[in-house]
Amino acid sequence: MIEKKITTTFVKSEFNVLTDSDKNLIRIAKNSLKSAYAPYSGFLVGASVLLENGEVIAGNNQENVAYPSGLCAERVAIFYASSEFPNTKIKAIAITAISKKFEIKDVISPCGACRQAIAEYEVKQNENIRILLHQANDSVIIVNSISDLLPFMFISRGLKNY
Ligand code: THU
Repeated sequence: MIEKKITTTFVKSEFNVLTDSDKNLIRIAKNSLKSAYAPYSGFLVGASVLLENGEVIAGNNQENVAYPSGLCAERVAIFYASSEFPNTKIKAIAITAISKKFEIKDVISPCGACRQAIAEYEVKQNENIRILLHQANDSVIIVNSISDLLPFMFISRGLKNY
């Protein structure tokens, strides 16, 4: 028996030292969260997806009175991006949130289902997707691949038959 370790690498930065492209992506996510439909949680999440053709697609969380029927901002944005531009690679996704009920002190990081959805497109396009996690205090955590957030992820290339 041998024990093996998987390491995660992330960069912690401040918003004001980011590139213009990263700042722009985060600003679009911040703007998008204003349109979130979150009457049950009061937790407004915005996500913006940068495509290799320069297009940016934004989305926000959409809740439902039957709670599981709602969808997170990340999946709204990435599914919309893929449906509009099915053959265009995704370069990055930025995520930010505010709460109407409390001060957010935790790192806003995608839920497990959103990580799996991001992983699908990373595998599909065979190229990493950068993920920018914007925090309320304007600090930003950046990972270069979903594998840094979802190590040991489920991948089965054999399932892809069509
Ligand atoms: N939510 C997101 O949109 N993204 C996340 O990464 C975490 C949670 C949404 C789902 C729900 O509408 C609200 O935030 C509270 O969980």
